[in-house]
Amino acid sequence: MTIIDKFMRQHSLTEDEYLELLQHWQDGDVVKRLSEEAVKLRKQHYGDKVFTRGLIEFTNYCRNNCYYCGIRRDNRNIGRYRLDCGEILECCRDGYALGYRTFVLQGGEDPYYTDSRMAEIIREIKKNFPDCAVTLSIGEKSYESYKLFREAGADRYLLRHETADDSLYSSLHPDEMKLETRRQCLYDLKKLGYQVGAGFMVGPPGQKLEHLAKDLVFLQELHPQMVGIGPFIPHHDTVYADKEAGSVELTLFLLSVVRIMLPKVMLPATTALGTMDPVGREKGLNAGANVVMPNLSPVKNRKMYELYDNKICTGEEAAECRGCLGMRVEAAGYRLVEERGDALE
Ligand code: 5AD
Ligand code: FES
Repeated sequence: MTIIDKFMRQHSLTEDEYLELLQHWQDGDVVKRLSEEAVKLRKQHYGDKVFTRGLIEFTNYCRNNCYYCGIRRDNRNIGRYRLDCGEILECCRDGYALGYRTFVLQGGEDPYYTDSRMAEIIREIKKNFPDCAVTLSIGEKSYESYKLFREAGADRYLLRHETADDSLYSSLHPDEMKLETRRQCLYDLKKLGYQVGAGFMVGPPGQKLEHLAKDLVFLQELHPQMVGIGPFIPHHDTVYADKEAGSVELTLFLLSVVRIMLPKVMLPATTALGTMDPVGREKGLNAGANVVMPNLSPVKNRKMYELYDNKICTGEEAAECRGCLGMRVEAAGYRLVEERGDALE
């Protein structure tokens, strides 16, 4: 029995076996088999639905200095901005009218938003839009902070683990950041009843297939409800300005593997994928993804939230993301739905 058959049958493998599986990422027949299985599983659980999350990038201040990220603390070449509670609610109002039923508050780790300010924002959104889910993506916090946000009404939390390999993690981040902290945060979030999203970049400097095999084992253990996977893309004001971007094909391969491993997972076709390939998000859907996350941030701020170069949906066309994605998703044979889109388990 080949490793492919074994994976198709068991939906789970050991680290060594995942490595063997990953070594087939450029083999057209394997790619096809996996993507067909991934699409079949997604159809079984979610039909032809594609879920949307309205992304509100509410602050680009960040106390962290991750080597890959365009809004890292040391980048003095970008204008910094913060949205106040009223502006955030305005984004939600626009989003609600466009059919969004999940709002993702994403930002750098910005101490201006104290726990009580954050809780207040969450409560306001839940009060005004009780039928919507609130997702937070604001980095590493204490158990107590996560608890407070949960009690204020937050439903979900996105915190990519970035890589499950200690030494790769250390090479991508300054000394003060530790993989162990990240892991602990993810387990804390699970314990508090959040729907949790982990994830990683494909192709940051130094990443090998061995590292990705570890990511897959980590996801298998954590069993998150969401997994964000996108190609690494260099940003001109970072340490990795001259590095090569990650592969679209390998990203698609991993999306299929993750869909098969966690059949009910919420899997976004990421903006980074759409940045690397004009139809990257459509390809993501055809590899097993079932979520898109259009930008709802005020158009005037979008250019300032460039985690990587050439990020799409930051120009004048940006007000139209909902319409644009609706057409794209339909042209690809799917249906963009007006639902909260909770994971099935
Ligand atoms: N290229 C691609 N993705 C990036 N992220 C941060 N910087 C980059 C980059 N240069 C991703 C990280 C982070 C998420 C919000 O964006 O994985 O968790
Ligand atoms: Fe933003 Fe197409 S999705 S312009």
